[in-house]
Amino acid sequence: MNTFIGCRKLMLKSSNSCLTFTLKRGKFKMKNKQETISKFNNCDRALENFDLYYKPVYGERWPSIRISLLTAKKSCVIINNFVTENEYGDTFSDLGAVDILELARKRQTAYANKMNKTNIKQSSLDQADVLRNVSSDQYASQEDNYSNVSEEQNPVYDSIISETDRKNLDLFMPAQVVYSDHMEQRIEEVRQSIYTPQDVKVDIVQPAPVSLSVDLTALAFPPGDVNMFPEPKTQNRGGLLCHFMLDASSILPVLALDLHAGNRLLDLCAAPGGKGLAALQTLKPDQVLCNDISKSRLNRLKSIMRLYVPDEHRVRIKTTLRDGQKFTQQEFDKVLVDVPCNTDRHSVLDGGRNLFSPARIQERIGLPKLQTELLLSGLQCVKVGGCVVYSTCTLSPAQNDGIVQSALDRLWRETNISVEIEDLAEFRHIFSDTLSFYDSCRFGQLVIPSLSKNFGPMYFCRIRRIS
Ligand SMILES: C[S@@+](CC[C@H](N)C(=O)[O-])C[C@H]1O[C@@H](n2cnc3c(N)ncnc32)[C@H](O)[C@@H]1O
Repeated sequence: MNTFIGCRKLMLKSSNSCLTFTLKRGKFKMKNKQETISKFNNCDRALENFDLYYKPVYGERWPSIRISLLTAKKSCVIINNFVTENEYGDTFSDLGAVDILELARKRQTAYANKMNKTNIKQSSLDQADVLRNVSSDQYASQEDNYSNVSEEQNPVYDSIISETDRKNLDLFMPAQVVYSDHMEQRIEEVRQSIYTPQDVKVDIVQPAPVSLSVDLTALAFPPGDVNMFPEPKTQNRGGLLCHFMLDASSILPVLALDLHAGNRLLDLCAAPGGKGLAALQTLKPDQVLCNDISKSRLNRLKSIMRLYVPDEHRVRIKTTLRDGQKFTQQEFDKVLVDVPCNTDRHSVLDGGRNLFSPARIQERIGLPKLQTELLLSGLQCVKVGGCVVYSTCTLSPAQNDGIVQSALDRLWRETNISVEIEDLAEFRHIFSDTLSFYDSCRFGQLVIPSLSKNFGPMYFCRIRRIS
């Protein structure tokens, strides 16, 4: 292959070779196939996976979600309640930030009025029937959404196999051996990535209105405003930091916990501690047990708590370094199960420790099982009458509704624990000024990234234990 012709760039392709010649300042640089392909990095792998599994589900919304995922996300700030005379709320308001919980309260009043009118119109119908119809309608539309991603004779399923071929299975080792192992893993990955709705014996009930903690102050810049908040500063007295930043959608699972004074909260996968700290800022829980399996991440959580919570309040926080799957003691009023997941944003933007690295395929394949086990542990640990909030930061239906479905199915078959799912659709209405939602989840709610409201993804679902 030493053909030279006087053009600046020549791509020579044949059925079994692909060589690129690039003329650089009069010299040839020859890249072989392997070099060209290795430019396909872990972020590309993640994006390819999302195109494959999310596009059929989110349809027309996918291009907008995709570009938002690839764009810098927005943050909100939570004002640290443990700092006395914290004036940062006013400073941020002067910069144009708005109190997103105040906006939600206003929407909630309007929503309650609207619902009252609807209820009067439907007064002759049994409320349970109304809810059942709503859920089955949702289910039907969900089935439509997912019907084109079912596993058998599925174009997506087929295409991934040829994709595998295309991405060169022989990059690592002799093709014959690795091809079959790798192929099996890929098939398993496809199986794990597709959510097929099934009949589950669970009621979806209408809960009391969302309780918007008056003690929590969260500010964000309005839609389309991409201003950034300044880094938190230490307050002179007490040495605590005055505010912390997090994705505004992360507040929703915390609010969904419906924390009351005196509650004992288990944060099963707690590190680095954003949601746990937000839960403490509601000033409601009496005790928060923050657990994580990773020592380094738990240490980070401890230092964050030290930076924000004074000694006299920190006694309410306990930390444990345990496998969340092993928790069984039924001693908590509320449990947050914020599981490890595809972490969509991180996966498409950070090529470093990326879940889509080929070396982590087993971990990726194992996620749904781990997520199901963690949710089942949470459900075992919560007292009767208490609730579990399951949350993720992925758009993957298999890791969202799919996990709730499989955990509830196992709960029904393997235990005598009874639960109900609480329909949290109200969140969609009351946070519509700040966040964009996908409205066709079957069990939970899903915040989707959009360019003007670039928060999320965040899925959350509340399950109440009734026996
Ligand atoms: C999405 S992150 C949690 C984020 C955290 N809730 C927050 O708001 O900052 C998931 C966490 O689960 C932890 N984890 C993974 N497997 C676990 C297990 N088997 N038991 C407990 N924690 C686990 C990870 O170390 C990671 O810190």
